Amino acid sequence: MQTYYFRKMNVEDIEAVQEIDGLSFANPWPTHSYEFEILKNDNSRAWVFEEKGDSEKRIIAMAVVWHIIDEAHIGTIAVHPNFRKESVGKLFLACILYEAAFENIEKCFLEVRESNLAAKKMYNGFGFIVDGVRKRYYSDNHEDALMMCLEKLDKEEIISTLKSLQNNSNCPREVNFEHHRNFK
Ligand SMILES: CC(C)(COP(=O)(O)OP(=O)(O)OC[C@H]1O[C@@H](n2cnc3c(N)ncnc32)[C@H](O)[C@@H]1OP(=O)(O)O)[C@@H](O)C(=O)NCCC(=O)NCCS
Repeated sequence: MQTYYFRKMNVEDIEAVQEIDGLSFANPWPTHSYEFEILKNDNSRAWVFEEKGDSEKRIIAMAVVWHIIDEAHIGTIAVHPNFRKESVGKLFLACILYEAAFENIEKCFLEVRESNLAAKKMYNGFGFIVDGVRKRYYSDNHEDALMMCLEKLDKEEIISTLKSLQNNSNCPREVNFEHHRNFK
């Protein structure tokens, strides 16, 4: 069984995080942005997913989420291309929402490129809906951004999603949380 470790991003992770960022987005974030989010922004929750093998571990997904009172905004989220289409994105997002629910976050927002089918499918699966469009939002190709919103973050529903993703009979996997909130 594969084990993923869900934990806070730290400064030592930035190189691996930037590799994923560069492989995933036309306009990756600069190093200082990650440093700022990790070290200086109290509203920021920067997360990584680490895969642990027998002898080595590697970061396979990263995200930065801003928590403001009872709302979360996903600033960036990506899975390393070698690990996509294996439900890692869904599992990682479920962990992010699980942590958010423990901080009494009620709503979650994000922007996504209109053409980004994988991301839209992932968000739809969690109940995100489109609630607006930012016209020509992306500077590289002037593509529109869809604004998506999860209106009510339900802790029990997230726990049940996390459990079913872990117990998927085709591909069982386990998530370990950095904090005390592991569950079976
Ligand atoms: C979006 C992203 C995080 C999804 O991660 P992933 O691990 O590949 O996603 P999952 O395997 O968990 O699949 C999530 C859903 O998307 C679907 N999906 C995955 N890749 C897809 C693709 N290329 N085309 C269409 N659907 C796709 C899956 O079938 C699944 O849907 P289902 O639950 O109905 O079966 C990943 O593609 C990525 O990092 N993309 C680049 C960065 C990015 O676009 N981030 C989002 C910014 S808003």
